[in-house]
Amino acid sequence: MARILVVYGTTEGQTAKIADVIADALRGDGHDAESVAVDSLGDSIPSDRDGVVIGASIHMGKHDKRVVQMVHKNRDLLDRLPSAFFSVSLAAHGDTQEAEGYVDRFEEETGWRPDQVALFSGALLYTQYGFVKRHLMKRIAKDKPGELGLDTSRDYVYTEWDAVQRFAEHFAEQLGPGAT
Ligand SMILES: Cc1cc2nc3c(=O)[nH]c(=O)nc-3n(C[C@H](O)[C@H](O)[C@H](O)COP(=O)(O)O)c2cc1C
Repeated sequence: MARILVVYGTTEGQTAKIADVIADALRGDGHDAESVAVDSLGDSIPSDRDGVVIGASIHMGKHDKRVVQMVHKNRDLLDRLPSAFFSVSLAAHGDTQEAEGYVDRFEEETGWRPDQVALFSGALLYTQYGFVKRHLMKRIAKDKPGELGLDTSRDYVYTEWDAVQRFAEHFAEQLGPGAT
């Protein structure tokens, strides 16, 4: 059984949900896994972990700054452990090239080369945005490829949960057998 930390940076909550699903799947594989918001991690990843999964969402073309800083600070540890990164964006839904570009920039910025990388589609949560954000997001959604929803009276969740599950299972395979 491996001890795995899933760290996430979220603004509207979708990356937190994905991190929870990953931690659940890892526990299902017999590992000791917990998901933790980057804000409550403190400065460093505890050194007693056997593997780390990190997730961050994209806003205005950039990954969550708190996650970028945390990865910077913990580079040495991350380089020694099995590690995976998942990026959450709307670009991942229909504009893979842009979503890949975000990750390339993240890797350049942090110098971290995770063993495994996934691009997950996020959500358009119109009903939870304030007035300005709702209209901004509708404008962005109109211009983006991938037929994003434009009805601001409802939310759209594009995350493919099967792909999230497979990502977690693939990571678990690198760690050897769990305790089930
Ligand atoms: C203000 C705002 C800006 C965003 N900018 C981008 C962007 O530049 N590119 C993109 O692909 N997705 C963008 N998104 C979509 C988010 O990545 C998506 O909503 C994701 O689910 C957010 O994850 P979170 O809830 O974990 O923060 C943006 C969303 C918001 C609300």
